[in-house]
Amino acid sequence: MEATGRTALCLCSFLFILTEVSSEYIHIPSLVHHGTEGKPLLLPVETHFQLDEVEIQGTWSHTTTSGTRTTLVTFTKNATITDMMYRNHILFREPNVSLLIRKLNRDDEGNYHLNLNIQFHNKKEPVIKEKRTVQVMVDVPVSTPVIEKYPSYAVVEDKGNVTWTCSVERGTRVVFQWLRDNVPLGPRERYQFSHNNSMLFISPVRKEDKGTYRCVVSNRISRAQSSKAMELIVYYGPYNLEVNSGQGLRTGEVFTINPGELVFFECQADSNPPNSYVWISKSHNTTQVINEGPRLEVLSYRLAQAEEYMCRAFNNVTQKQDETQFTLVVASLGTGKEKHMQEGSSVSPLAAITVCSLFIIGCMLLFLFKRTCHPKRVLMSIYKRPLAEQKRPHRSGHEDASEDFGIYEFVSIPGKMESAQASCRSLARFESVQDMHTTIYDVIRHVPETPSHSLLK
Ligand SMILES: *[C@@H]1O[C@H](CO)[C@@H](O)[C@H](O)[C@H]1NC(C)=O
Ligand SMILES: *[C@@H]1O[C@H](CO)[C@@H](O)[C@H](O)[C@H]1NC(C)=O
Ligand SMILES: *[C@@H]1O[C@H](CO)[C@@H](O)[C@H](O)[C@H]1NC(C)=O
Ligand SMILES: *[C@@H]1O[C@H](CO)[C@@H](O)[C@H](O)[C@H]1NC(C)=O
Ligand SMILES: *[C@@H]1O[C@H](CO)[C@@H](O)[C@H](O)[C@H]1NC(C)=O
Ligand SMILES: *[C@@H]1O[C@H](CO)[C@@H](O)[C@H](O)[C@H]1NC(C)=O
Repeated sequence: MEATGRTALCLCSFLFILTEVSSEYIHIPSLVHHGTEGKPLLLPVETHFQLDEVEIQGTWSHTTTSGTRTTLVTFTKNATITDMMYRNHILFREPNVSLLIRKLNRDDEGNYHLNLNIQFHNKKEPVIKEKRTVQVMVDVPVSTPVIEKYPSYAVVEDKGNVTWTCSVERGTRVVFQWLRDNVPLGPRERYQFSHNNSMLFISPVRKEDKGTYRCVVSNRISRAQSSKAMELIVYYGPYNLEVNSGQGLRTGEVFTINPGELVFFECQADSNPPNSYVWISKSHNTTQVINEGPRLEVLSYRLAQAEEYMCRAFNNVTQKQDETQFTLVVASLGTGKEKHMQEGSSVSPLAAITVCSLFIIGCMLLFLFKRTCHPKRVLMSIYKRPLAEQKRPHRSGHEDASEDFGIYEFVSIPGKMESAQASCRSLARFESVQDMHTTIYDVIRHVPETPSHSLLK
């Protein structure tokens, strides 16, 4: 339904245009004309009749943009009357129905109406009346735009407003475009543009508004022309406050510095005008201003275990401030040259002590081993016995006890050699002597009395 309705409407308007624009007898190629100021403009009309077959009578009249109507020319096939006021301004040569404006000016803008009556000689037709209206626009090339700012001085962010105006001395249907740092500015929350874009009002101004502004103008007949650049200075900040140091090791908000080191800290914040900086030391719930300016010098030996510092940045124009806290810890970082120096001074005594201790322990062990475990003697005592027994096969018990005086040991581990070795090892380790079930007997040179004798006593 809707589609067919629209089609019908289109068809109707098409037919209307067809009948309106190209009738049988006259044709005007364009109903809208753009002319340039100072240049001629022709409003061409094509006629589709034989001049000798007709009588014609017509007028060209002009309605200005303000609405006043003037008849410019009245003409027939062989005569023309031109308004006296326009005699030098327009050119009309009958029977050519086209109208030429010699030198366009802004006042020539408006609608031009052609009324033409056509009477055929040999036909008994009534007079044919043709009416056409042609719109004429006069374009003026744009002059170089001029940019202005109010207020002319710098503004404070979040408080100040700024009004930019762009003006051209000459130019019609000017298109204004604003650029900041060569980037076109479109509509956004804090921006208000005038209806023709010639004015930009920023309220309130923010840090991101700072930069170089230009306005660019153009129109149908003039290429884009740029104004001079103008700087907008915004007082802002401080933002992105941070403390940095070339020395030490940073982990988050903790700086670790080497003992005895002289460390410089730098406080930085984005701000205009530059901030004033204050360094504050925080210890035991009391704060103390220790320095002013962007740099702080700290001698690490003056520090206790860990201390808290604060850098405060203040912008005295925006009346805003920010502060950042950090902790300073003194510890041996052991990097580069300092590492070797540190090792030389603190690690070598320990090493010396260790080496000495080990040496002494070694000596003691060796001494003990030699004193308590005589491998030769043990072996001798083990292997000699069977030999002695072989020599005296008939002996049993303590027939000759004087030969057996000395140190004996008895090992529970089976195997002669193994037992001997184990005993030596175990002797070296005092604690494990009993664990190995080894017993040492010192047989004292003493001949006991015969049991019978003692019993008798
Ligand atoms: C124009 O032509 C008509 C006849 O078509 C004639 O009567 C008239 O005198 C002519 N006028 C001029 C100024 O030549
Ligand atoms: C009418 O005059 C204009 C210039 O004034 C010319 O360009 C055009 O060709 C003329 N038309 C005819 C039919 O002579
Ligand atoms: C900025 O503009 C706002 C409203 O747009 C106004 O309330 C304020 O007073 C202006 N500030 C200055 C400094 O002109
Ligand atoms: C743009 O608009 C302002 C008013 O908003 C007006 O004063 C100015 O003349 C206009 N400029 C152009 C070229 O149209
Ligand atoms: C702001 O501080 C600067 C130094 O950082 C000083 O020169 C200036 O006078 C101060 N301005 C005001 C208004 O206090
Ligand atoms: C530090 O100050 C806070 C309150 O300002 C208080 O609660 C706390 O007890 C104080 N600590 C010391 C060690 O003085």
